[in-house]
Amino acid sequence: MSIAVMTSGGDAAGMNPAVKRFVDYSIEKGEKPYLIYDGLTGLLDGKIVEADKHAVSGILFRGGTILRSSRSQRFRDPEYRKIAYEQLEKRGIDKIVIIGGDGSFNAARVMSHEADVAVAGIPATIDNDIPCTDYCLGVDTALNVIREAIDGIRDTAASFRRTFVIETMGRNCGYLAAMSALTSGAEVCLIPEVDYDMDQITRRLNDEITQGRLYSIAVVAEGVAEGRNIAETLERKTNMEARLTILGHIQRGGSPTVLDRRMAFEFAHTAVEALLDGERSFVTVTDSLNVKTKPIDDVLSSTYELNPYICKMIHPLCH
Ligand code: F6P
Repeated sequence: MSIAVMTSGGDAAGMNPAVKRFVDYSIEKGEKPYLIYDGLTGLLDGKIVEADKHAVSGILFRGGTILRSSRSQRFRDPEYRKIAYEQLEKRGIDKIVIIGGDGSFNAARVMSHEADVAVAGIPATIDNDIPCTDYCLGVDTALNVIREAIDGIRDTAASFRRTFVIETMGRNCGYLAAMSALTSGAEVCLIPEVDYDMDQITRRLNDEITQGRLYSIAVVAEGVAEGRNIAETLERKTNMEARLTILGHIQRGGSPTVLDRRMAFEFAHTAVEALLDGERSFVTVTDSLNVKTKPIDDVLSSTYELNPYICKMIHPLCH
């Protein structure tokens, strides 16, 4: 029996390195890996190709997904899904890794219920809105794209007396906006998860303007309100000219950062390993971003050791 991978839903940086690790590790384990092109749509249409190492060489650095992606309406129809299962059966595929967001995981779960196929989800969406995991592929790259944009806007902001409103993606999740605001020193940040009060915000800005503030930056998540309305309100209530930048799809592009490449490697490695160990329906997750405290005595009385998991990953490169 064989193992396959697809990317589905909104593309995210990190998908390509995950596909590469999937293929390399599957081959290392003696499996026959397949690539499904065009997401769920491609599965229905049989765009499924057996992969060798050559198929995934030189893709690690590339943004987007070489497998392409889709949001399939047809897959919602049980009659079409039967066709998808036939496509898998024909090729002896009984294990499938789906790299995407919650919509893709719903499809994966349906597959595991209706067909004899084990499914693994790898979280990948710049929105970072998948429960049970601190991190989804694509987020760090998107944050770096946003950081660069805000740094650029700050250059012009510092040369003018203006308010700059920057609208970020994220659907109904404020993660991208919140992290961007915190790491870029924005004066205002509006996200769907936290109530806001424009009167209070503009009072604060007006006080700061009186004390000498020359410009300000407001990061607004797309799930809150039209950035244009926020810019108009800020301009009207602070008497400072406002400009709006909607970052849009640029946030989904770019060569994956080191964090995205690393997490792609680990998610894909873990997904293949667990499928081969017989797990049938799961998502790879991480909680490594939690910050906590440790008594200083514990730290000083311990010896540093490279995480044994990293040593295990590196092992094949040492032999
Ligand atoms: O889910 C990722 C995302 O980029 C969201 O942040 C955004 O709202 C949406 O996809 C845009 O979707 P599309 O690419 O279909 O316009």
